[in-house]
Amino acid sequence: MAYQRMRLLHICLLVLGALCLYFSMYDPSPFEEGLFVFKKECGEFLQLPDIDCRQNPPFLVLLVTSSHKQLAARMAIRKTWGREAVVRGRRAKTLFLLGTTASQAERQAVAEESRQHRDIIQKDFVDVYYNLTLKTMMGLQWVHRFCPQVAFVMKTDSDMFVNVEYLTELLLRKNRTARFFTGYLKLNEFPIRTRFSKWFVSKYEYPWDKYPPFCSGTGYVFSSDVASQVYNVSESVPFLKLEDVFVGLCLQKLNIRPEELHSEQTFFPEGLRFSACRFRRVVACHFVKPHDLLLYWQALEGSRGEDCPAV
Ligand SMILES: *[C@@H]1O[C@H](CO)[C@@H](O)[C@H](O)[C@H]1NC(C)=O
Ligand SMILES: *[C@@H]1O[C@H](CO)[C@@H](O)[C@H](O)[C@H]1NC(C)=O
Ligand SMILES: *[C@@H]1O[C@H](CO)[C@@H](O)[C@H](O)[C@H]1NC(C)=O
Repeated sequence: MAYQRMRLLHICLLVLGALCLYFSMYDPSPFEEGLFVFKKECGEFLQLPDIDCRQNPPFLVLLVTSSHKQLAARMAIRKTWGREAVVRGRRAKTLFLLGTTASQAERQAVAEESRQHRDIIQKDFVDVYYNLTLKTMMGLQWVHRFCPQVAFVMKTDSDMFVNVEYLTELLLRKNRTARFFTGYLKLNEFPIRTRFSKWFVSKYEYPWDKYPPFCSGTGYVFSSDVASQVYNVSESVPFLKLEDVFVGLCLQKLNIRPEELHSEQTFFPEGLRFSACRFRRVVACHFVKPHDLLLYWQALEGSRGEDCPAV
């Protein structure tokens, strides 16, 4: 009897294990209800930057997704690549995108920081990783509403190195004005269906087997008309928490295909070892800590005018 009960227990455990495995790999309820839809007009701006695009529009606006705790990263960016720069007569301006938190102290600190630096765009949504799409769309809405006169926009993160000078030069060389979208191209990506992954997407959220062409969210650049157009169609594509794929869905709807900026690779979403010569020919590089950013910047400024080996 005891033996049979043990056997039954084993079988039960086995079945339970199999079920767990099944539910961890597959979403049990695909297609059941309608897909989520993004609401364009949700929320008002809490903070706006001090910039008048009607009077004196910059050539390039860099929108940096950031959160309340990343003050050190914002300060490092303000001292380095985010400093207002003029390259060949073209001005670049860096702004930070933030949501809100439950912490009263953090909210006050950001309001104070905004008063001091005047470079923060903020709306009333909870500032968490899975709200990155809301943050990005807030940036596009800001361009659409307050700065459609800017020529180009870059969306990037606060752990990035960006070579604003090189980017401006390449954009001028490329000589495109409309329907232009570039970055690190991802043309053949598939949804990750295993749970526990940071990029897990259920069949309920995204029922199709392949993603549209998009650019890595670590840094992409587009002509400003694209901001308005993407914002315009954003309610008519399924909402995705992966902001770069979501923008890709909008681009697909608009028939805008991401393109290379240059014949050589200039966007590095995986990170790159620093050397001054190498970083002069990099547009964007990932995984740069605030302290390293300051060091890289010093080295770049210090070696200005020096020759680099030809490549
Ligand atoms: C995103 O922000 C909205 C609006 O504040 C909030 O209702 C929602 O819970 C947030 N999403 C997550 C995953 O926390
Ligand atoms: C840039 O493109 C325009 C047409 O869109 C053309 O007239 C102009 O000559 C181009 N400039 C350069 C420097 O290639
Ligand atoms: C937004 O979309 C509508 C149609 O869906 C179109 O008529 C309008 O021109 C679009 N606006 C922009 C700025 O693309």
